[in-house]
Amino acid sequence: MLKLKSMNKFSLAKTNIFLFKDFSQAALQSSCNFCSKSLLISGRRLYSLLGLSSLMRGAPEQTRLILLREDGEKCKSFGCVETVLKEALEFDLGRNDRIVAAGGGSLTDLGAFCASIYKRGSRLTLVPTTLLAMIDAAVGGKTAVNVGGFKNCAGTFYPASEIIICPDFLKTLPVKEIENGLFEAVKYGVLFSKALLKKIFENQPLLKKYRPQNGREKYGAGVHASNAALFFDIIKNCVNFKMRIVKKDPFDKNERLALNFGHTFGHAFESVSGGSVSHGAAVGLGMAAELIFSRFKHGESGDNAELVSKIMSFIRATSHYRVLDDFLAAPEIFARMRKYILNDKKALPEGYIEMPLVKKAGLYEIEKISLREELEPFLNSPHYLLDEWREGTRLIRRGAK
Ligand SMILES: NC(=O)c1ccc[n+]([C@@H]2O[C@H](COP(=O)([O-])OP(=O)(O)OC[C@H]3O[C@@H](n4cnc5c(N)ncnc54)[C@H](O)[C@@H]3O)[C@@H](O)[C@H]2O)c1
Repeated sequence: MLKLKSMNKFSLAKTNIFLFKDFSQAALQSSCNFCSKSLLISGRRLYSLLGLSSLMRGAPEQTRLILLREDGEKCKSFGCVETVLKEALEFDLGRNDRIVAAGGGSLTDLGAFCASIYKRGSRLTLVPTTLLAMIDAAVGGKTAVNVGGFKNCAGTFYPASEIIICPDFLKTLPVKEIENGLFEAVKYGVLFSKALLKKIFENQPLLKKYRPQNGREKYGAGVHASNAALFFDIIKNCVNFKMRIVKKDPFDKNERLALNFGHTFGHAFESVSGGSVSHGAAVGLGMAAELIFSRFKHGESGDNAELVSKIMSFIRATSHYRVLDDFLAAPEIFARMRKYILNDKKALPEGYIEMPLVKKAGLYEIEKISLREELEPFLNSPHYLLDEWREGTRLIRRGAK
């Protein structure tokens, strides 16, 4: 047998992450990058709403713009990949030139996927514009598009050269989208930092203090002068936690599994709801469910009960609460979740699934859970979760009278 020289494992190259307080600095940083040719991908509506033209200060022959009609989940398609790649070819973009993607997590996933395959990898700059993209989607080198209705079915690991984060963008973000990001921030708090968690829970009224826009409080912006510093601090903390774990496990094999906290149940809630429960809210409920599961498996420990109650109060104070309350009242949801958990990406062939179980805030362990012997009995006893949920709902209704 001839043994060829073994290759080193790939490692994720260095990513420079810039966090700016104001947009003019972010734009300056971004335009400094336009000494090479750059192709900027964004959404038509976002481009004018966020004034993204200032990201494109390079000479016209050096910059090209693609504005997609749809920049939410629908843009994560091979149709959009082809549009971007054709435009890159037409513009004669080289491997050392740059693809810049500015938008929410859907758009950064698409842009990063395109950059990872264009001529086997062009330079990539990400400018995330939602809270979720700033603290999660744009950070960590995972790219994805959807195929035939299957979410994130095609993807690569491809770190950006730069990520330019500026909370100023959040001024136009709808309330629900801010809350979706905050659920992920709560996840980082439960996993890594009691102090971060305390900051989010104690400041929820301030984080929720939206600036009214056009007289419609509900759709007002989530970030304004009185809470901008708080958002900045939360983003900085979350990005640091994510980078720390990604450095240890860039390819999602070991330590990074911790970031799935709340997501095994969360994805199943989201799927069973047929899309009526948004991803962020489903993860919020998923975190409570997984903490209760941890108690079911190991018995009461640490601050488990307090964490569940705080997460549930947090959910109740968001605009997602009514949808979740209706969803949990529907019959059979727990029985229907079984198939989604069995098909989860983390499910192992021998009938196990790997999940992070939180012992107390800031302390977790990744455990191998038997689907038949441990998860099924829990799914067959939904009262564990429902009792806690209904107790809070009763208190709210009593308070409202
Ligand atoms: N790659 C990863 O590691 C990773 C991690 C988490 C999530 N994701 C992906 O991220 C996607 C979700 O991202 P998302 O929550 O940012 O949603 P999104 O990108 O779909 O954007 C949600 C909506 O917000 C709008 N929007 C974006 N920025 C705005 C702004 N500043 N002001 C006003 N409106 C704005 C968009 O137009 C869109 O309508 C999912 O596809 C998910 O799979 C990827």
